[in-house]
Amino acid sequence: MSTMHPSERELSLAPRAASDEDEALDDSTNGSLGPTGRPKRHIPEPPLLNGHGPAKVLALCNQKGGVGKTTSTINLGAALTEFGRRVLIVDFDPQGALSVGLGIPAHQLDRTIYNVIIERSTTAADAVIRTGVENMDLLPSNIDLSAAEVQLVAEVGREHALMRSLRPVIDHYDYILIDCQPSLGLLTVNALAAADGVLIPLECEFFSLRGVALLIDTIEKVRERLNPKLEITGILPTMFDPRTLHSREVIARVVERFDDIVFDTVINRTVRFPETTVAGAPITVWAPRSAGAKAYRQLAREVISREVAMAR
Ligand SMILES: Nc1ncnc2c1ncn2[C@@H]1O[C@H](COP(=O)(O)OP(=O)(O)OP(=O)(O)O)[C@@H](O)[C@H]1O
Ligand SMILES: [Mg+2]
Repeated sequence: MSTMHPSERELSLAPRAASDEDEALDDSTNGSLGPTGRPKRHIPEPPLLNGHGPAKVLALCNQKGGVGKTTSTINLGAALTEFGRRVLIVDFDPQGALSVGLGIPAHQLDRTIYNVIIERSTTAADAVIRTGVENMDLLPSNIDLSAAEVQLVAEVGREHALMRSLRPVIDHYDYILIDCQPSLGLLTVNALAAADGVLIPLECEFFSLRGVALLIDTIEKVRERLNPKLEITGILPTMFDPRTLHSREVIARVVERFDDIVFDTVINRTVRFPETTVAGAPITVWAPRSAGAKAYRQLAREVISREVAMAR
């Protein structure tokens, strides 16, 4: 009798080709309708770039924990690089999950985003590190960042500390993605004050909807008081299970309430994502042909196309 638990087999650390399970999950659509229940739309191929920067800054934000903020930051970032974009991902959570998810031992680092926002002598370029993904850099964080919230309170312009820190590197990248912590405290307000757009990952689960009104209220206050250019780039349904009525009902409610703000791309629930954290690599690298990798590539196309549409 095998003593290996199924989840242990799932976690064996060799890259795997797409399985039948992926293909089945990929087919979450119903004929001409997408998983959002809206007609499928053609999302154009992203235009090629002639040069790089200035970056579009997107905050991945939801005060509810475990909804896919960090997973989406890593995987959207990696997918954007496949379209020739230069990306900086910013770990703005003292838990440091974004850094850990890329296999970087953030607790050992001397210079992190904490030093950049608190010390005038440390610049973003001093703390940025390369990741295993070409053209994707990381501004790491660790538990030190938890002290920043208290230290910033006494600062002049405390809500703009992150914006000031990112300004010197903005021309070097096409996208800067900020992985927020699950709270609406001062760190998250800093992320919103620095951002052009907010991307809201929303777990396809009934109670997920509860906090969204408060989040949107916070975004509106930041727009009015701190950052008039702030937009909601989109709501991204995550952990969708096409086999359950519950998941489909949650998406229907979200689309009914938020309409076109909801991306056409929906991220299915699959064990591949926890696996990628163990592997320390994005799904686009770890399981490049999987449904999850395809979904984040599709999201990257949608994010780029929304930006192009807004610029018109
Ligand atoms: N589509 C998915 N299917 C299955 N598991 C997922 C999916 N997306 C993320 N996960 C897993 O769910 C957990 C939470 O995801 P993640 O860390 O991205 O959420 P988060 O919003 O950043 O959480 P926190 O609020 O704690 O920062 C992780 O273990 C992750 O691997
Ligand atoms: Mg996280």
